[in-house]
Amino acid sequence: MTRPIEPSINSQQHYETLLAEVYDWMQGGWGDRVQQSRELFKALVVKPASTGTGAGAVDLGAGTGYQAIPLAELGFTVTAVDASAAMLTQLEDHLDEEAKPESASPDTGSIRTVVADICQFAKNRLEPAELVVCMGDTLSHLESHQHVATLIDDLNRCQPADGRIILGFRDGSQPLVGDNRFLPVRSDDDRIFTCFIEEVDEQTVRVHDVVHTKVDGGFVQNISSYRKIRLTSDWVVEQLAAASYRKPEVTTEMGMTIISART
Ligand SMILES: C[S@@+](CC[C@H](N)C(=O)[O-])C[C@H]1O[C@@H](n2cnc3c(N)ncnc32)[C@H](O)[C@@H]1O
Repeated sequence: MTRPIEPSINSQQHYETLLAEVYDWMQGGWGDRVQQSRELFKALVVKPASTGTGAGAVDLGAGTGYQAIPLAELGFTVTAVDASAAMLTQLEDHLDEEAKPESASPDTGSIRTVVADICQFAKNRLEPAELVVCMGDTLSHLESHQHVATLIDDLNRCQPADGRIILGFRDGSQPLVGDNRFLPVRSDDDRIFTCFIEEVDEQTVRVHDVVHTKVDGGFVQNISSYRKIRLTSDWVVEQLAAASYRKPEVTTEMGMTIISART
C-alpha cells in the first residue's frame, strides 16, 4: 500500500510558526547555552589566528546566538547566517543586551546577521572565513545528504589554508523505537514541550514538536512537524575528507557530536 503523503512544511516555516518563540526556553535558557558554548570553544582552543579583532568567522544556522556571541567575545568578526528572521531578531536583541557598556570587553568583535539559506550562502560567498561553525544540529535540517556534502565542499573553497571548521550535530545512527520516540523536552507551570520522532526510513526522520501553552486556566496545543536527515559521525568525517579537510577530531558534548577539522 502506498504511504499517504503528509502535508509537510520546511524547517524555516517550522521555526517561524512554532519553534522560534519557545527556542531559548526549550533549550533551558539563553545564558546557560551561551556559557556552555564559551566553555566548549575554550576546550577546543578556538581563537582568532591573528591577534586583535577582525578575523572572519561564519556561523551557519546561528539561531539566537549560542555560538556567534562567544565567537565575537573571542575577537572574531562573525557573520551569523540563518533562514529564520525570527531567530536572528532574537540574536540581535541578545546582542543589544550583551553590548551594554558595563558588560562590553574592548576585545569583542562584531556580529553581522544575514537571513539566508546556508547552502546558497556558502555557494555565493566570496570573502574567506578562517573559522566556520555549523552547530546545534543545523546540518540535519538540510534537504538531503547530498546538500550536506555539497555545503562542506563549498565551505572548503571559501576558507584559507589555515582555516578551521567545527560541526555539531546529533548522531542519528541509532533509531528510536517504542516509547523512546517520545521526548519530554521541557515543562513548567505554563508550558509543556514534547517531541515525537517518527522513523521514516534509513535516511530520514520526521520531527513532531508538540507545545501545550496555558491559556485561561487550560492548555492550548500547537503542533508542527518537519523532516530531518540522519547524520552519523563516520559519514560526516568522510565528507570532510572528500572536501580536503584534514585532521578531524571527534568529541561528544551534551549529546551532540562535535567534529573539528582543518583546511
Ligand atoms: C537547531 S537550531 C541551531 C541554532 C544554534 N546554532 C544552536 O546551537 O542552538 C537550527 C537553526 O538553523 C536554521 N536553519 C535550518 N535550516 C537552515 C537552512 N537551510 N539555512 C539557514 N538556516 C537554517 C534554523 O532556522 C535554526 O535557527
